[in-house]
Amino acid sequence: MYRAILKGTPAMKDILSELENRRDAARLGGGQKRIDAQHGRGKLTARERIDLLLDEGSFEEFDMFVSHRCTDFGMEKQKPAGDGVVVGWGTINGRQVYVFSQDFTVLGGSVSATHAMKICKIMDMAVANGAPVIGINDSGGARIQEGVDSLAGYGEVFQRNIEASGVVPQISVIMGPCAGGAVYSPAMTDFIFMVKDSSYMFVTGPDVVKTVTNEVVSAEELGGASTHTKKSSVADAAFENDVEALAEVRRLVDFLPLNNREKPPVRPFFDEPGRIETSLDTLVPENPNTPYDMKELITKVADEGDFYELQGDFAKNIITGFIRLEGQTVGVVANQPMVLAGCLDIDSSRKAARFVRFCDCFEIPILTFVDVPGFLPGTTQEYGGVIKHGAKLLFAYGEATVPKVTVITRKAYGGAYVVMSSKHLRGDFNYAWPSSEVAVMGAKGATEIIHRADLKDPEKIAQHTADYEERFANPFVASERGFIDEVIMPQSTRKRVARAFASLRGKKSQKPWKKHDNIPL
Ligand code: HXC
Repeated sequence: MYRAILKGTPAMKDILSELENRRDAARLGGGQKRIDAQHGRGKLTARERIDLLLDEGSFEEFDMFVSHRCTDFGMEKQKPAGDGVVVGWGTINGRQVYVFSQDFTVLGGSVSATHAMKICKIMDMAVANGAPVIGINDSGGARIQEGVDSLAGYGEVFQRNIEASGVVPQISVIMGPCAGGAVYSPAMTDFIFMVKDSSYMFVTGPDVVKTVTNEVVSAEELGGASTHTKKSSVADAAFENDVEALAEVRRLVDFLPLNNREKPPVRPFFDEPGRIETSLDTLVPENPNTPYDMKELITKVADEGDFYELQGDFAKNIITGFIRLEGQTVGVVANQPMVLAGCLDIDSSRKAARFVRFCDCFEIPILTFVDVPGFLPGTTQEYGGVIKHGAKLLFAYGEATVPKVTVITRKAYGGAYVVMSSKHLRGDFNYAWPSSEVAVMGAKGATEIIHRADLKDPEKIAQHTADYEERFANPFVASERGFIDEVIMPQSTRKRVARAFASLRGKKSQKPWKKHDNIPL
C-alpha cells in the first residue's frame, strides 16, 4: 500500500476510496436489516440521533474503526467497526458538547471493553476541555461474550461519572434498553430523559423479578418512562419520541454552563426586567385554604414566560426547573399549593434537594417561592424517614453559596419556613408579599395548643384565633426582626427579583476547609 502511494496519484485515489468504503461500512453499523428493525420499533439509529442532537455538520467523530478484541465464542469472526457506540464532539447552538450514542444495531449496543474505552475517552476529553457529556443509551448491557472485561469497562465509566460530577454537566438520554448494573451510569449523571414506550431501565428484568418474587410485571410497568418519571423519580422527564427528546436536550443545554468554572450563557431577551404584573396582586386567594397555581407566578416572573420544568410528574407539591432573568439562567424551587397544600414531604424534599445541589455546583442562582404549611404528618412519612429526607433539603439550601433570593407568597410555617431558603440559611434577599404569614404554625392549630383550657368555648377560641392571626399571620413580625428584608408588592416581583440577582452577580462566599460534607443520604 505505501509503495503504491509513492508511485503516484491513482494509488492515492484507491487509498482515499478505501477510506470512504471503510467509513461507509462503519456508518452502516449492524447493517440495513437491523437499521430497518430499529426504525420499525419507532427508534432512530445512533447516528441519526447524534445528527438531531447537534448543530448541523458540527459532529467530529472519534474511534470510528475501533473494534473489540474478544476471541471467545467465535467473536474474532465478527468485528464490526466502531464496536456498537458512536462517540465524538460537536456543538449545540454553537456551544461544545461531547456525546456518545450506543448503536443497538451492532451486537445490541452491548458494552465490551473497547466500547467502554471509547466512552471513557470522550469523558476524559470533556472534563479536560470543560464541556458537558451527553450519553444516548440503547444497549443490551454487558457484552456477554466478554464477561468480566465488560464489567471492568463499566466500572471505568462509573468512576468517570463520579469524577465528572460537579465538573461538567452530564445528561443521559435513555432510548432503548438499559438494564442491570448499566443503569448506574445514567443514575450518577445530572439529568435522565426517557422516551415513552421505547425505553426502560431496571436493575433486574421482569423474568428475574418473577423468579425471585413471583411478581408478574411487564418491562414497561417495571422500568418504563411512566414508572421512572411518576413513581421512582429516577428520570427527570419523558418524551413522546426520539426527536422530541433530543430537541428537549438541546433546550436544556441552553440553560446550563459548560462546566463549573463558567457562567451559563446569557441569551438575548426581549422582556422588560422591570415589567409590572398587576394580575399577581390577586394571585393569592382571600381564603388561606384555597389553593392557587404557583406556576402562574413562575411564568409571570420569567423572561418571556419560558419555564423549563424538571421532574414535573413527580412530587408535584414542589416545582423545580429553570427560567431566565435578564437572559441569565436561574434555578427555581417553589411550593405548589395545588398539591398537598404545598406541604414538604419525603419525595418533594429529595426532589428539591437534588435540584438545589445541581444549581449550587454549577453556580446557577436559586429563586425560591414559598407557600408551605409545614411537613406532611403521618406514619408513612415518619416510617419512610422524613426526618432524614427533609434534612436533605435543609442541608442543600444551607450549604449552597450561589445567590439565593426567596419570596414568601403566603404561608411559611414552622421548620418548613426555615428550610425554604430562609434568611437563617443565608438567603441573600428574603422578600415577602403582604399576604404572607411567617409563624410557627397556622392560627387555629396554635390556638388549640396554647389555649387548650378554652377548647370547649368556641367563642373564646375564635377570639384567640383572631388574636393570633392579628399578631402572627403577616410578614411584619419577621420583618421587624430583619428575617424578611422587605415586604414587596406582588406585581413588582419580577422587577425586585431581577434587581436582587443583578446585585448579587459578584457574590463570593468563604467556607472553612473540609474534605466534603456529610449530607444525610
Ligand atoms: C451480547 C447482545 C447482548 C449482550 C443483545 N445482544 N444483548 N450481545 N451481549 N448483552 C445481541 C443479540 O444477541 C442480538 O444479536 C442483538 O443484540 C439484538 O438483540 P435481540 O435480543 O434480537 O433484541 P431484542 O429482542 O430487542 O431484545 C433486546 C434485549 C435482549 C432485551 C436487550 O437482547 C436481552 O435480553 N439481552 C441480554 C440482556 C442482558 O442480560 N444483558 C446483561 C445484563 S447484566 P443478533 O446477532 O441476533 O442480532 C449487565 C451488567 C452490567 O449488563 C454491569 C455493570 C457493572
